[in-house]
Amino acid sequence: MKTARLTAVDISSMKQKHERIVSLTAYDYTSAQMLDAAGIHMILVGDTLGMVVQGEETTLPVSIDDMLYHARMVTRGARRALVVADMPFMSYQVSVEDALRNAGRLMKEAHVGAVKIEGGAGVAPLVERLTQIGIPVCGHLGFTPQSTHTLGGPRVQGRTVTDAAALIADAQSLSSAGAFAIVLELVPASLAEEITQRVRVPTIGIGSGPACDGEIQVFHDLFGLYTDFQPRHTRRYLNIAEQLTAAAVRYREDVIARRFPGPEQTTDLKPDVKEELREFLRRSGGAVKSLRTKASHS
Ligand code: KIV
Repeated sequence: MKTARLTAVDISSMKQKHERIVSLTAYDYTSAQMLDAAGIHMILVGDTLGMVVQGEETTLPVSIDDMLYHARMVTRGARRALVVADMPFMSYQVSVEDALRNAGRLMKEAHVGAVKIEGGAGVAPLVERLTQIGIPVCGHLGFTPQSTHTLGGPRVQGRTVTDAAALIADAQSLSSAGAFAIVLELVPASLAEEITQRVRVPTIGIGSGPACDGEIQVFHDLFGLYTDFQPRHTRRYLNIAEQLTAAAVRYREDVIARRFPGPEQTTDLKPDVKEELREFLRRSGGAVKSLRTKASHS
């Protein structure tokens, strides 16, 4: 039986039902399958793929084609979760036409159920336009990685009353514009709580404390695949990089010592064919002539 996929409306209504929203990023088919099997509600194809998959220093170099490529794999793997794709840097900032075209491509070509864009009141008109034409939008406030150069790197945002009030106003603008949820990244816990209480739509925190309506984390951080640095807001549920490196060492040693491949991984000739081949090779000497006729090639 086909399981119904969660929609942006389902995710949004979880707030009214006091259900926590559990979200994680994924960038490929197999990871998406695993997260789906674990009952994760919302999978974000984040532009963090620029860092954790492509090895870039920031998310800025990620293109719309990169997002389409990864989002397609994720939607193939996830049958139940809502799949949201990030609109990458410069795919929605230049013009509304550009933004609509790029968001439309993510929906039409990668089959995602929603897109995510970074920014506050300034992007609210775009959120409204996208929502009106049938593209659900998740907002993203606080530390917005596409603005890392103007924000001075990954820093907690909204520490002063002025900045905190601006963030609350931004969240209200996004909610009024029709965003179905808002990611709050690196926002002080009590401010995240204020925002959560003041907006109709769910807040999904990352580094913003426990009062948000849900939580999102980066797959590679949570499972220990990305070891360049560990953000304070993550918790390692696995250490895959360590386990994988140790397994690769065992594999290298086994291949060198001829312990792998073993009989279980090997197919051989039947004993009579083996014997016949030996005899044929002994008689042929150095130059082996093919026994195939012209007909056996066709
Ligand atoms: O790109 C991403 O993975 C994100 C999450 C950190 C929320 O935006």
